[in-house]
Amino acid sequence: MSSSGKYILVADDEPKMRRVMEILLKQLGHTVFAAGDGREALALARANPLDLVITDLRMPELDGIGLLTALRAEGNEVPVIVITAHGTVESAVSAMKLGAADYLLRPFDLDALELAITRVLGAAGIRRENAFLREEVERGRGTFVGDGAAMRAVYELIGQVAPTRSTVLITGETGTGKELAARAIHDASPRRDKLFVPINCAAIPAEVLEAELFGHEKGAFTGAVRERVGKFELADGGTLFLDELTEMPVALQAKLLRVLQESTLERLGGNRSIPLDLRLVAATNRDPRQAVREGRLREDLYYRVNVFSIALPPLRQRKEDIPALVAHFIAKHGPAGQLPRVDAAALEVLSGYDWPGNVRELQNMVERALVLARGGPLRAEHFPMEAAPAGAPPGEPGPPPLGRMNEVVEALEARMIDEALAQTEGNKARAAALLDISERTLWYKLKKYRPKDKY
Ligand SMILES: Nc1ncnc2c1ncn2[C@@H]1O[C@H](COP(=O)(O)OP(=O)(O)OP(=O)(O)O)[C@@H](O)[C@H]1O
Ligand SMILES: [Mg+2]
Repeated sequence: MSSSGKYILVADDEPKMRRVMEILLKQLGHTVFAAGDGREALALARANPLDLVITDLRMPELDGIGLLTALRAEGNEVPVIVITAHGTVESAVSAMKLGAADYLLRPFDLDALELAITRVLGAAGIRRENAFLREEVERGRGTFVGDGAAMRAVYELIGQVAPTRSTVLITGETGTGKELAARAIHDASPRRDKLFVPINCAAIPAEVLEAELFGHEKGAFTGAVRERVGKFELADGGTLFLDELTEMPVALQAKLLRVLQESTLERLGGNRSIPLDLRLVAATNRDPRQAVREGRLREDLYYRVNVFSIALPPLRQRKEDIPALVAHFIAKHGPAGQLPRVDAAALEVLSGYDWPGNVRELQNMVERALVLARGGPLRAEHFPMEAAPAGAPPGEPGPPPLGRMNEVVEALEARMIDEALAQTEGNKARAAALLDISERTLWYKLKKYRPKDKY
């Protein structure tokens, strides 16, 4: 969707800023309406069909938040970008909670402005185009592809739990669509107009995770030069998605539990208690009960998040969905215009495979096949799957290799690690899960086998 030639309203009480914005926006090919305060802006918005409003937050008469609230109260859903200065990011956050599409930090340049506009108008366009999909979304299907019985049961569960405030635990192997399910729950819930805030507990260093979640007051610790709103607060009224929950340090799990039980939080270095209206969705690709036994997941937290659980079936248990998924990924990654077909022999190869990396692996395979087929039909030879699928019980095919046992075993280990990292695009947490070893063990083995790489 092109984002030039739009009708954009700029509201700012400083004539100089208004002028600069007008020049920048005209340079980008838009038609500009300028208002000196919220009241003028509202009058202009009533009289003109607008694609976008960019408003300063602090203005006389009616401020940016007031303008946003008034527009929404009148049923005007025009996307709004708010402009804010450093130190007042919190008001931008409240604007986002009220439905602003994005915010710009002053000072900004032409690139930042263009990026924000493209992002917001692109999203608005997609939202409009997808309006007819809303019914599907409300029934819990979200953006999932696949209509087999196993996935229909999942959509039904999502549809049932979405309208409630219940905490949800999503389990499933890597690449089965856990994050997709979390978004589907949010999108089908009454919270859909507030933020969906994902945070991956495995990707963020343990020492940083707490501040990310809780936020901090100015001076809470060395380096905390500004106050900072954490993910908990950002997700207030919306949905917090804690991905890879079992990778969260156990001490932090206790603090998370307290927030969930008390529906309030204190920022680091603060003593105010801030009320929270939070919906938590958590995910893990480990067996949560085993994680409890191993001491990675606090039992009390497990019971708190496992109020409602959804298990995503691995792809090998729902091979009936493979053709629809392949068609979807061809449409998503294929060339514009005539889409390549996939022949019957190829579909047979795809159904004969075990898919340890599940839908993500299938997506990667289709992307690769599209390149190999160069616009022609996708055939079996474009899907060079391993002869022995990785999910087969080990030790079955043929006699084991003989030789110096340590060397043979180490060589196999190194290859397994390489393969796991390739399938997870280098994500060590997921690679470790795929191999069913701890991240620490993986790290140790990487140092052993690839001592020159940096980790
Ligand atoms: N049923 C589906 N239909 C369409 N796309 C899907 C489906 N399931 C998964 N995908 C796609 O596969 C990829 C992996 O899905 P997602 O990130 O939700 O998996 P995950 O379970 O969170 O994996 P991980 O445990 O590795 O984080 C994404 O690109 C997602 O869009
Ligand atoms: Mg995920």
